Amino acid sequence: MSEFPKNIFLIGFMGTGKTSLGKKIALKIQRKFIDLDSYIETEMKMSIADLFKKYGENEFRIIERDSLSKLIENNQQIISCGGGTPLFKNNMELMLSNGCVVYIESSIGKLFHRLKRNRIKRPLIADLNDEELLVFIKTKLNERNIVYKKAHLIHNTDDSKEVLIENIQKLNIELFKL
Ligand code: S3P
Repeated sequence: MSEFPKNIFLIGFMGTGKTSLGKKIALKIQRKFIDLDSYIETEMKMSIADLFKKYGENEFRIIERDSLSKLIENNQQIISCGGGTPLFKNNMELMLSNGCVVYIESSIGKLFHRLKRNRIKRPLIADLNDEELLVFIKTKLNERNIVYKKAHLIHNTDDSKEVLIENIQKLNIELFKL
């Protein structure tokens, strides 16, 4: 049986690099990579920013949840989630019972540094100045960490992807008795 039979979900705050890490792991272990935001944009034929503008955050979360449920019907994928995905309804439980959930953790300083340069496409922070952005990161991360930390694995962005792959392998053995 394959070493990675189920889905691998990457979760974490905006700006942690879930997408680029996910692509690298997928290449390394030969799995299909799906970025949930990009999947939604393709399905809806609209950018995340425009979806927020047109429908508002709550409706976006419903669309996000529907997309996640659809993707979960397939196995052996690496799915990089939006920062808010695990927070809505029972999305986190859904992911936990459908594969390995990995929280990609980063420091407030690093997140601030990355998001400062990349806020335009992210509707929740697009209009914030630097000071407000820092407060937003601190407050939201604190709030979201309660859910993020329910993940099967926590991977710090300072650690190598090889370490992460090894840990996912070990976890698969534990979870799925391979
Ligand atoms: C969000 C994160 C974004 C995107 C949307 C909302 C959030 O994804 O889903 O802007 O609530 O944290 P990334 O984490 O990929 O930036």
